[in-house]
Amino acid sequence: MDSIVVKGGTALQGKIKIAGAKNAALTLMPATLLSEEPLTLTNAPRLSDIQTMTALLQSLGVEVTSMQDGKVQVLSSHAMTSTTADYEIVRKMRASNLVLGPLLARHHQAVVSLPGGCAIGARPMDIHVTALEAMGAEIELKDGYLHATAKGGLKGARVPLRFASVGATENVLMAATLAKDTTIIENAAREPEIVDLAHCLRRMGAQIEGEGTPTITIEGVDRLGAATHPVVTDRIELGTYMLAPVFAGGEVECIGGRLDLVQSFAEKLDAAGVAVTETADGLKVARKNGRPTAVDVTTEVFPGFPTDLQAQMMAMLCTAKGTSVLEEKIFENRFMHAPELIRMGADIEVQGGTATVHGVERLKGAPVMATDLRASVSLILAGLAAEGETVVSRVYHLDRGYEHVEEKLSAVGAKIERVARS
Ligand code: EPZ
Repeated sequence: MDSIVVKGGTALQGKIKIAGAKNAALTLMPATLLSEEPLTLTNAPRLSDIQTMTALLQSLGVEVTSMQDGKVQVLSSHAMTSTTADYEIVRKMRASNLVLGPLLARHHQAVVSLPGGCAIGARPMDIHVTALEAMGAEIELKDGYLHATAKGGLKGARVPLRFASVGATENVLMAATLAKDTTIIENAAREPEIVDLAHCLRRMGAQIEGEGTPTITIEGVDRLGAATHPVVTDRIELGTYMLAPVFAGGEVECIGGRLDLVQSFAEKLDAAGVAVTETADGLKVARKNGRPTAVDVTTEVFPGFPTDLQAQMMAMLCTAKGTSVLEEKIFENRFMHAPELIRMGADIEVQGGTATVHGVERLKGAPVMATDLRASVSLILAGLAAEGETVVSRVYHLDRGYEHVEEKLSAVGAKIERVARS
């Protein structure tokens, strides 16, 4: 397993190109299941999660052609061979559950393995199931698989979500495009990845209104057609690299960054003493004057502070002036980066879903272990600010969601390299 070695203390200077959003691509790719016409995605990120989704779709008979070094994906499901998403693939990536809605909508059946829990929480699928049952699906759990059928196809319905689940909103939004009559999703998630999915579905011929608001209305159509769609910028990669100069000093311009994608995050940075400036090509970030100051953070559904940036923010607050309180409201176990940061000299107390961070002058490099995707990148960021060398192991977590992180950071002056370990 590879490790990444970071030597701290070098100020950063330069530009980082932000890639297409992992969490948009992972819902746009299964949308191909809704039509026998080809779906072309441009600005696709090159990540192992995309490879996993590709493998899953290919196991269903979808043709996936990668071009331009993976930046363009052409998908076609005109020759399906299966409607079963196998445990071996689903257990690796929860987003595999996003084939459920499209398979039900067009093929009226699906067998999808339950994803199982993961490092950050139990992550059940009750909201997905309840919503699709409201649209006429019959779904039974058997041997760890959801067996779903929709005799005569799905029917439009009013679908109130008990929680604004991103994945459940995406599954229902895709399913509703081919359901009979009208579907109204209430308490829908409002994340930019959902807005991007709606834009893509509309290009395919879907009739959708209200994406980005809590109520999305979809008029079912008989069939969807071909489309070409650019994957939206990755707001989590953007937020991650916006933090890099806050740790190490200097100034970084995130090319392709859009303030509307990270509004609540940027407001917290401003309160912490970090300057975020819109430029013609993206967002420029630098500390206003020296060490940032402590701020309190509570993760919420969009447009609140994103849970996927909580670990990175905690790492930054470890060397802020003062004490910060972070509340993780979306997942039940998303502080596993805390013990690793403490190994680097951070002063953090975790009580259930609340972490209190007392800022220290400086962190010290240490060998640390990545536990999940976002925790792993927070350790790399901490290494940028730490005295000495930090070795982050198990970086396969990182490769799931960040394109060539060592290349992007070394291009702006970071002392970082990947070390292949047997
Ligand atoms: C998406 O996961 C993202 N993944 C996650 O990003 C992100 O953290 C999450 O949304 C929240 O923003 C993708 O888009 C591929 P949820 P998802 O359904 O859809 C509970 C990353 O690092 N819940 O909004 O699975 C669930 O357990 C990943 O890129 C139920 O209880 O998130 C969790 O506590 C990590 N029942 C909360 O809701 C359900 O049926 C949020 O889940 C569904 C969810």
